[in-house]
Amino acid sequence: MQKWIMSGLFFVACALAIALMFTLPGKEEVAHEEKPSMPEVTMDAAAADAMVKASCISCHGDQLQGGAGPALDQVGGHMDVEAIYKIVSNGKGIMPAFKGQLTDEEIANIALYLADHK
Ligand code: HEC
Repeated sequence: MQKWIMSGLFFVACALAIALMFTLPGKEEVAHEEKPSMPEVTMDAAAADAMVKASCISCHGDQLQGGAGPALDQVGGHMDVEAIYKIVSNGKGIMPAFKGQLTDEEIANIALYLADHK
């Protein structure tokens, strides 16, 4: 009689272990996706300004007033830091992707700088 109880418990423990094996990694993946992709940096406005002048004003205008690309002088009013970080990293339409050309930290710095333009 006791043997039955023991093997019953063993079976339940195995079932639980298998269930955990399938559910835990799934949850970790979801948590990973929800993490912000942007690295945390302290804004360095002078460095951001220099990079924007070097890489962005040809399309966005020397005062960020717009040109081939939309104006960025008030971009912080309708885009948050993450959204700006994404578009600068990945590009959009004729806007080139800067991932690879600039480091993630540099792009994050530019995003913080532009998000301040409201
Ligand atoms: C070759 C021209 C070009 C260059 C260089 C360029 N952009 Fe753009 N950018 C565009 C265009 C065009 C769009 C509009 C894309 C669309 O919506 O299809 C855009 C959109 C954006 C947007 C979204 C603006 C909005 O209101 O939707 C941001 C932010 C931005 N660019 C930032 C930058 C930054 C920062 C740089 C420099 C690191 C840069 N861009 C360099 C052409 C350019």
